[in-house]
Amino acid sequence: MSKGSASALVEIDDLVIAYDTPAGPIRGLDGARLAIGQGETLAIVGESGSGKTTLGMAAGRLLPPEARAESGRITVDGVDVVGAGNEELRALRRDRLGFIFQNPMSALDPTMRIGRQVARAIGGNPAVETIAALLRRAELDDPDRVVGAFPHELSGGMAQRVVIAMAIARKPKLIVADEPTASLDASIREKVMVTLGKLRGETGASLVILSHDLRLIARHADRVAVMYGGRVVEVGETATVLEQPAHPYTRALIAAAAGNEKPGQRLEPILGTPPVLTARCEACAYEPRCNFAEPVCATTRPEERDVAGRGAVCHFAESVLTRAGSQREAGAR
Ligand SMILES: Nc1ncnc2c1ncn2[C@@H]1O[C@H](COP(=O)(O)OP(=O)(O)O)[C@@H](O)[C@H]1O
Ligand SMILES: [Mg+2]
Repeated sequence: MSKGSASALVEIDDLVIAYDTPAGPIRGLDGARLAIGQGETLAIVGESGSGKTTLGMAAGRLLPPEARAESGRITVDGVDVVGAGNEELRALRRDRLGFIFQNPMSALDPTMRIGRQVARAIGGNPAVETIAALLRRAELDDPDRVVGAFPHELSGGMAQRVVIAMAIARKPKLIVADEPTASLDASIREKVMVTLGKLRGETGASLVILSHDLRLIARHADRVAVMYGGRVVEVGETATVLEQPAHPYTRALIAAAAGNEKPGQRLEPILGTPPVLTARCEACAYEPRCNFAEPVCATTRPEERDVAGRGAVCHFAESVLTRAGSQREAGAR
């Protein structure tokens, strides 16, 4: 989107990705646009089904076989990911990308000792000291023991630290973490995020965190991109977007975030559900749920605009920005 820096590492332009299903195509991305700068930490937020995972996996062309890039473009460190040949793609994944998934156990081979799996991630034939040193950087307490352990002998938090170590083993330029702490105990989420942020700093990589935990990302992300209906509907500096949202959906997400309520004030769940798109959305995808909607929202697809220092995809972003009160108080219907 418009807020990308000149030295963008990732550029996503009007990307459309459809999943072929027996009932017909479903759009995971419906013209997504986003630029990710070198060395920044960007959070992508939105309800389940908004397109976060589709976008994150598209960066490594790691989508399932039923997914098709229909149009648009995604480049990562100069590589056209959609058009790249298999060899170029393998090299990109191996040398420049690191992926961290929600469930660390699914990323680890249950039959192989951790040391061997980490060795593979490093490549070549690394000494056990090298393997242990990498695990220590991921702040595992007893790396020498972990090297000889099997995945089932580790806690979820330890396993995720192993996956993080593997993801940074080859000094990637881009780390994509899809709900990296969602499967972990609440008590260790913050610590794992701190480790991830520290390693991002050491490697100079860009970090993309896909999450629906607004409180977590408020502490860890430089910028936030809000997704809805397969598009990035608002993007900007974290404080700008979370303190003065210009998109009604961002407002609703904030109002619904646990822990954001003032004493005595109830949370406001977002009524309704996100759309499942079977074709290009020719309106605002959020219109059916939006308290600010006007007739034009149901007939005209909004394009992104620069609104008070961030990008917003809303016909009425300026007035959303300035209207006070909760969305329900402000709601027109
Ligand atoms: N393998 C798939 N087959 C069919 N539809 C899918 C598949 N994966 C995702 N989708 C659909 O694509 C949209 C975006 O999903 P996803 O990228 O997983 O969102 P998020 O990660 O934000 O929950 C949703 O409508 C979802 O149902
Ligand atoms: Mg997801």
